Amino acid sequence: MSDPPHVIAVCGSLRDESYTRRALRHALDAAAERGATTELVDLREYDLPVYDPDDDEFPAADRLRETVQAADSVILGTPVYHGSYATPLKNALDYCGFDEFDNTTVGLLCVSGGGFPVTSLDHLRSVCRALNAWVIPHQAALPKARTMFDGETFVDESAAERVATLGHRAVEYANIEPDPRCLESTENVGADD
Ligand SMILES: Cc1cc2nc3c(=O)[nH]c(=O)nc-3n(C[C@H](O)[C@H](O)[C@H](O)COP(=O)(O)O)c2cc1C
Repeated sequence: MSDPPHVIAVCGSLRDESYTRRALRHALDAAAERGATTELVDLREYDLPVYDPDDDEFPAADRLRETVQAADSVILGTPVYHGSYATPLKNALDYCGFDEFDNTTVGLLCVSGGGFPVTSLDHLRSVCRALNAWVIPHQAALPKARTMFDGETFVDESAAERVATLGHRAVEYANIEPDPRCLESTENVGADD
């Protein structure tokens, strides 16, 4: 555990004008306001092929794993793609495992073009349980993303508040006592063969 807490945000969109990335920057700003050191993990800067268990040793994968392991809290941000979370985030998560996420505090943020970004958050929460992460109850859902921002600035105040609260909680719960392992994490073990 680091003092001050270190909070990172992983952006699941590779799009240059990504709303997810904009929202994550706000979450990290809110975490910094509460004293955290912060880092945005921009997956455009990580050369990660589609995950293949037979061939998963890449410098970018090592860098990703080291960055996530060094974090006290990890905010996962994703766009909704077909009612779930986006491929770049899934790919990044598959390069990680218990070493990176066991007992790590995780916050969830999701952005959609339509009005219902909630299923992606549910799916990500299940994934985090399988990794025995400690997922913050508050989550930031941002529907109709193109109406949310003017440039980098939030124009929707309630959305801005949800995102800022996520950043604050990521700091407040960065160093909580571990819970006993959840059943999901003990049963969803990786195949070793
Ligand atoms: C392949 C693909 C699938 C999408 N599926 C959905 C969807 O199921 N529901 C929805 O509300 N928006 C959907 N969208 C819209 C994105 O969620 C929206 O454009 C979002 O702003 C993208 O995030 P970004 O700005 O961070 O790149 C989809 C976009 C793409 C490219």
